[in-house]
Amino acid sequence: MPLTKVLPVGEVPENARKVVEVGDYKVLVIHTDGRFIAVDNRCPHMHLPLKNGKLEDHAIVCPFHHSAFDLETGNVKEWSPWPPVVGKALGAIAREKALPVFEIMEKDGWLWIADKPEN
Ligand code: FES
Repeated sequence: MPLTKVLPVGEVPENARKVVEVGDYKVLVIHTDGRFIAVDNRCPHMHLPLKNGKLEDHAIVCPFHHSAFDLETGNVKEWSPWPPVVGKALGAIAREKALPVFEIMEKDGWLWIADKPEN
């Protein structure tokens, strides 16, 4: 998978986040527990930005309706039934979907991210 040079490692210190454009995606880079993680910044539930989501138990929790996604695999840990009243009807369009995760690596002081998600 081709990797794109996105930004100097120093621009994302421990516990920081940054959104970068890679191909057709806005990728959220998270530096946590000494490592870098790259996921789609669009929540698969209703496509709202995940940038300010809380990190809990190796997952990112969407700040809007609290769906949670594993940071390694992107798998759904919790899927929001929101909005509750039309939740069933909406189920057809907001069916449970994993969060796209991207390969990310450090090389020569830069972060490199794959052009397409791994999942
Ligand atoms: S947009 Fe993320 S849970 Fe609804």
